[in-house]
Amino acid sequence: MTTIDLSTQIAGIHLDSYLMNASGPKCTTWDELLVIGKSASAAIVTKSCTLEFREGNPEPRYSDLPLGSIQSMGLPNLGYKAYLEMVPELKALGKPVVVSISGFSIEENSEMVTAFQNSDVDLIEVNFSCPNIPGKAQVAYDFEQTESALAALTKLGNKPIGIKLAPYFDMSHFIAIANIIKKFPVKFITCVNSIGNTLIIDPETEQPIIKPKGGFGGLCGDYIKPIGLANVRAFRELLDDSVQIIGVGGIKNGTDAFEYLLAGADAVQIATCFEKEGAVCFARIENELKAFMAKKGYNKLSDAKGKLKPL
Ligand code: SIN
Repeated sequence: MTTIDLSTQIAGIHLDSYLMNASGPKCTTWDELLVIGKSASAAIVTKSCTLEFREGNPEPRYSDLPLGSIQSMGLPNLGYKAYLEMVPELKALGKPVVVSISGFSIEENSEMVTAFQNSDVDLIEVNFSCPNIPGKAQVAYDFEQTESALAALTKLGNKPIGIKLAPYFDMSHFIAIANIIKKFPVKFITCVNSIGNTLIIDPETEQPIIKPKGGFGGLCGDYIKPIGLANVRAFRELLDDSVQIIGVGGIKNGTDAFEYLLAGADAVQIATCFEKEGAVCFARIENELKAFMAKKGYNKLSDAKGKLKPL
């Protein structure tokens, strides 16, 4: 049988496969990260951390939906120092470690980036797009703040920095963000985060189905796959190939992963499917992707990467 090579790289960091967990579900505690380390996820991505431990938003803050989920977790995490301490043990699991940080100001993000620049993590993903913190706007929708933050954070060391973006819906916004990214040594982008501030109502109870923010939460899963694909595609066309793109949003099988490859993703992250199915999803989707590529006669990612055909 033909061997299908799913190896890839993000900012020069080799990944044995194209699939990893997203900074989202089940990546907060050591036990959860250990499960990811032992799975077929190509990297270990941590929950977005803040300066201090956070309980997160009040429950219920997550609900499965027929085609995905809605959540308003509010960044529950152990505080960045706990992840900093875990880095040697995480690295010992034998795969790249990606730390996600989500400070509430440039100063907070600078403190965390500086600390992780002096650690052994492989990649730093700065989350500019959590929609679930009451009273805090998403940095990714504020272009001036995005630019100021990147100016500060990209000069704090040589370890590759990337940013997790919110979904954009207008060509002018893709262009504006791409032009900002081009000004700085941003090595990768992760797109997209959930679609923020959506509302699901239970007509029986006449209530929202999650509690925080009056029921407003991030929509995830199948619902957002077309948006994730469009964001990956738009940024692939606007940015130089030296900026890698990690696609996220609604990947639950091999063909979803393949569609992101056609759009131009260098790797993908799995969130809702991992939440619902557990860590076995990484090997399953990897095998499905390999089978689909074999059927098409492709044996490595570059055979199809970015090669969406015009209609
Ligand atoms: C959360 O913890 O609220 C989700 C993380 C995110 O949206 O970035």
